Amino acid sequence: MSSFYRTEMLPTDEPETLRHAIRTAVDLLSRGEPVALPTETVYGLAADALDPDAVARIFAAKERPSFDPLIVHLPHKDRLHEIAAVPEDIAPDIKRLVEAFWPGPLTIVLPKQPEVPDMVTSGLPTVAVRMSDHPIFRRIITSLARPLAAPSANRFGRISPTSAGAVSQELDGRIAAIVDAGACLHGLESTIIRVEAGEKRPLITILRAGPITKEELQEHGKVQFANKKNAHKPAGTSPQPQVPGQLESHYAPRTPLRLIEDAKTTTWEPEPGKRYALLSYRGEEKDGLLDKADWEEVMMLSPGSGKLSEAAIRLFYCLRELDNRGFDEIIAEPISEVGLGVAIMDRLRRASVKPSSDQTNG
Ligand code: TXA
Ligand code: MG
Repeated sequence: MSSFYRTEMLPTDEPETLRHAIRTAVDLLSRGEPVALPTETVYGLAADALDPDAVARIFAAKERPSFDPLIVHLPHKDRLHEIAAVPEDIAPDIKRLVEAFWPGPLTIVLPKQPEVPDMVTSGLPTVAVRMSDHPIFRRIITSLARPLAAPSANRFGRISPTSAGAVSQELDGRIAAIVDAGACLHGLESTIIRVEAGEKRPLITILRAGPITKEELQEHGKVQFANKKNAHKPAGTSPQPQVPGQLESHYAPRTPLRLIEDAKTTTWEPEPGKRYALLSYRGEEKDGLLDKADWEEVMMLSPGSGKLSEAAIRLFYCLRELDNRGFDEIIAEPISEVGLGVAIMDRLRRASVKPSSDQTNG
């Protein structure tokens, strides 16, 4: 890290502070300074996507390795073609997906236009593109009228921030400003897909599970999850990178996290003298782990009601809170893998694996 910043927190809860926040953010971004902005998924660290120096500052602030490409956010749907060269055979499918899900938490990987700096795509021939639905993000990006590269606003490998306070914990002193718009609507990063022409319907491969579910995408094509075999398609061309969401270790708290995949059959038992916290789905005994140990703390993803959308919103918040409290281990209860449950279990699995040197994440 070359420079030290006095990071400014920009509130947005009064018309006056909101105007000031937007003006300050646009001014900093137009001078090539990265700014942390709220999106409907998680907070992003944004910079002008077409300015390699600005993009380099994102990598520096996050300590992100240069081989991990960024998502480009568009000011408007019409500007997709400036960033991506949509192949003809899938153009109608992409148009339908864009109409259905943008602005919103769907990222599409497409061949890139030459104007997109190699630094953004880590030298890949493809670029990941989305359009955020957050009202303040939209006001900033439309006023700037430039595409913004924005990865999640956490240091490399850490839990994605879903509040301005969490961004500050990650990046204070490393960036000029944080626009504080409170908690994020979804709490999980966007769904990332790749689209190929199929015989009757397009083939949609989910590279990272997220708020747009497999069930929702099935209205637009045949949907599969990426696995080790199909992660590097299209075959015969240069390999795509693995998305951090596909890699084993990611979203890692500092405290070891153990996901109990099957609460009914688990043989796990607490070790005497160790301090444990439970990350429970609803805080109900029938979910299986509440009576298994003398928990020092129990946090519930969806207290009482068991709503997956609430669990998604609270997941990174709960992990971050528990991580800050110095337990010996965090034990997580499983969630059924339907709808949003797929993305939640995906993040829990990745948080529960110990990082090793050959794994990457963003
Ligand atoms: O919801 C989100 O997507 C948030 C908000 C801020 O927009 N952003 C986000 O960015 O999660 P990030 O960088 O933390 O994760 C996006 C991942 C990258 O790590 C990268 O591996 C993958 O998207 N990606 C980017 N370009 C790609 C490409 N051309 N092909 C395949 N994967 C790509
Ligand atoms: Mg990330």
